[in-house]
Amino acid sequence: MDTKLLIDSIESELQRQISRFDTPRTKPFHEMLTYHMGWTGEGAGPEATGKRIRPLLVLLSTAACGADWQSALPAAAAVELVHNFSLVHDDIQDNSEKRRGRPTTWVKWGVPMAINVGDALFVMSNQALMDLKGNYPAEIVVRGAEILHNTCLELTRGQFLDMSYEERVDLAVEDYWPMISGKTAALLSACCHLGALLGVADESRQESYRAFGHYLGLAFQVQDDILGIWGNESLTGKSAASDLVEGKNSLPVLAGLGTNGKFAARWQQGPIRVDEVQELARLLASEGGYEAATDAAKQMIDLALMSLREADPQGEAGDALFQLTDKLLKRNQ
Ligand code: IPE
Ligand code: IPE
Ligand code: MG
Ligand code: MG
Repeated sequence: MDTKLLIDSIESELQRQISRFDTPRTKPFHEMLTYHMGWTGEGAGPEATGKRIRPLLVLLSTAACGADWQSALPAAAAVELVHNFSLVHDDIQDNSEKRRGRPTTWVKWGVPMAINVGDALFVMSNQALMDLKGNYPAEIVVRGAEILHNTCLELTRGQFLDMSYEERVDLAVEDYWPMISGKTAALLSACCHLGALLGVADESRQESYRAFGHYLGLAFQVQDDILGIWGNESLTGKSAASDLVEGKNSLPVLAGLGTNGKFAARWQQGPIRVDEVQELARLLASEGGYEAATDAAKQMIDLALMSLREADPQGEAGDALFQLTDKLLKRNQ
């Protein structure tokens, strides 16, 4: 499967969706959107667009059900717009100054403007999804909208848990899964579910695709947590210090707290300073936080593969879904 062709088509569809917005009076607003999407401004280019994994999952799932992926392009754009809306808001919520190797939207234009950029991306995701009506019957478009809207609600629930967990010292690993299930897995799950819906798969196969995306999303966030502490900033494009400094109860942290060692003793004393981050990351690894998280990610990948086998994806797109799942834990960006 030529995923390059898919990525190029996704990019064109996203540009088409966002160009609706380009009017003379609001040009600077349009530029904020295209900056965030990675197309304009300093540092624009393939590294600044992100991986586009979510729209790729939509198109591969549709194709693996034996249908034409081109018809699903508006849905692929819709999920990537939802993702980007959530990133613009998440960077405000997490006080993150860097995304995809560049200053975040709020750093460049201030928080009020960035909130508005996120809002526009969110509304555009709904508009993009409505474009499916040119290719599918109304019942399918409505079902797609229902899936996407439920997902956005799940996402805000997950973000609520993530923020409300900051600096809490009474949490355990069990508290982690519902949080990432909402903030991350819901959208990856919706991508595969939408892909299968648009591939005209029956209900039970749609359910297998949905479950595949859910477990893939859990593994994806665990890996993001690992990279958020031990990743290479120049590859992730995000600050490696911020998860510990922001007091994020990520999986490695919760696993580390469970061992009640030196890491736990320091974490419980209050906010981590930037100059302590390196030493604390080392301590957390030596007390098992890294290993526990990588083990959990592997378990989630196994569950994802089990659901994917159940979904029985066809052809080159099916092979590409297996490859993407196998490669997920090797990602460093
Ligand atoms: C980052 O997602 C946010 C998470 C849910 C972990 P990605 O790692 O997919 O971000 P981009 O789009 O490639 O930048
Ligand atoms: C990921 O949040 C989920 C959303 C953006 C909704 P994180 O805060 O864990 O992701 P990064 O590390 O900033 O990309
Ligand atoms: Mg966050
Ligand atoms: Mg964040």
